[in-house]
Amino acid sequence: MLFHHELSHFPIAFLLAAFVADVVVWRSASDTARIVGRVLLGAGAVCAVPSVVTGMILSIRAVTGAYPENTINLHMILGITTMVVGFTALLYQRNEGRKPGAASRRRVCLWIVALSVAATGYLGGTLGHPM
Ligand code: HEM
Repeated sequence: MLFHHELSHFPIAFLLAAFVADVVVWRSASDTARIVGRVLLGAGAVCAVPSVVTGMILSIRAVTGAYPENTINLHMILGITTMVVGFTALLYQRNEGRKPGAASRRRVCLWIVALSVAATGYLGGTLGHPM
């Protein structure tokens, strides 16, 4: 199935873990969590790209009515949102310490990404394993 099933679990795991690391940084200012979180955000954003590409190719089957239209559309929008906002967070992360406000903007983007990737994964599960 074009590896969408296998690939899509990487951005979910990395981005949710990046969110958890950010909560730790927020609560305790831990330097280790900050470094781990930076790596996880980068890995998650990069891994979102093949997930979106394979998902788009897989969704060609949607024209045959293989998937409920509302669910596939929402899954697609949230998946693309995850990728775009993930890279935006990465951009702010690069500018942290150089541009004022970059750190808080990165945090807002990361928290949006955590919500969108969780919802994307949930909807993907309902597409892949219908009741
Ligand atoms: C960050 C982006 C994405 C993530 C994290 C993601 C995640 C998932 C997950 C977890 C599943 C269920 C896999 C399983 O059953 O084991 C799934 C299924 C699916 N996704 Fe995505 N997805 C993403 C982007 C997309 C995009 C952009 C599309 C395009 C419409 C798409 C189309 C599909 C389709 C068609 C299925 C059902 C596959 C089947 O027939 O079993 N996905 N996705």
